[in-house]
Amino acid sequence: MKKVAYGKTADGQQVDLYTLTNNKGMEAAITNYGGIVVSLKTPGHGGQLADVVLGFDSLGGYLKDHPYFGAIIGRYGNRIAKGRFKLNGVEYKLATNNGENHLHGGIKGFDKVVWAARDVSTPEAAALELTYLSKDGEEGYPGNLSVTVVYTLTDNNELRIDYTATTDKDTVVNLTNHSYFNLAGEGSGDILGHELMINADAFTPVDAGLIPTGELRKVEGTPFDFRKPAAIGARINAGDQQLLYGKGYDHNFVLNRTGEGLQLAARVVEPKSGRIMEVLTTEPGIQFYSGNFLDGSVKGKGGKVYGHRYGFCLETQHFPDSPNKPNFPSTVLKPGGKYQTTTVYRFSAVP
Ligand code: GLA
Repeated sequence: MKKVAYGKTADGQQVDLYTLTNNKGMEAAITNYGGIVVSLKTPGHGGQLADVVLGFDSLGGYLKDHPYFGAIIGRYGNRIAKGRFKLNGVEYKLATNNGENHLHGGIKGFDKVVWAARDVSTPEAAALELTYLSKDGEEGYPGNLSVTVVYTLTDNNELRIDYTATTDKDTVVNLTNHSYFNLAGEGSGDILGHELMINADAFTPVDAGLIPTGELRKVEGTPFDFRKPAAIGARINAGDQQLLYGKGYDHNFVLNRTGEGLQLAARVVEPKSGRIMEVLTTEPGIQFYSGNFLDGSVKGKGGKVYGHRYGFCLETQHFPDSPNKPNFPSTVLKPGGKYQTTTVYRFSAVP
């Protein structure tokens, strides 16, 4: 693993950039600022490498306002309605940073903090361990939460992310990674031609503020049916009320699961480059976000303009607003318990 100085945060903290490589030529560059995946070079048809994640050329880009490119999201990924929830009869008030709602951990989420980094590579694979202590009360959450995220790049062209956390008070946790992918290469156009499969019979419909209503709705007969691969763009402008709320796809899918362990959640194929990405996870849900809020105002790597739907996210997770939805799988973590989830982004190419 290569480590180079990446710069300093506004308050003077030193940040580094770590480059993980494998024996297939795949390369992942990750910074301990926000745990951001800065670049991810994967082989396409014929073996050509391209960087498939949106981002910036230097730390400066990430220090400014940006839509969570590549970052670790916490303490709670996605939205909590009105930034409020009750736990053991006590109401907690979180930072509201998305209209009246709480999004992606609040004003200064895990995407904007400096993590302690350690090379934990083995003879089998390069691995970077990031740790962060989120103090009791941070962004309104109860409990000191001790978080560890390990990024591993395997020789099977997998970027594996292992998330663990422990707490000293009952709290809620929902960690994810917010990478924006374009399998044709970042900045090369919109992602509407990518063919997507999501292994989900149902999704969680939302209200106008993108808060789940609590319903689990069958995807059958809707533009949310990705059980058979379909182009992302095929039905995105279909006029469906849910798609109007999201300005495209910005929804949590209820993954079809049997038992524990890593299971296939989604598969994406980019027909021109032949690049394939599979997402495997232990989580019950995945947020499919089609980059609807990208509007060309962000200049990314090499000065490239990231236009509307130039990237998509597949954020593995527990369902949004679970702390207020007793029928959703619980996101409560208690002292003595261990939060433990794994997600794998596996890359290959059509031969
Ligand atoms: C998530 C949300 C979207 C949007 C993006 C960041 O995926 O669900 O609504 O906020 O993050 O722009």
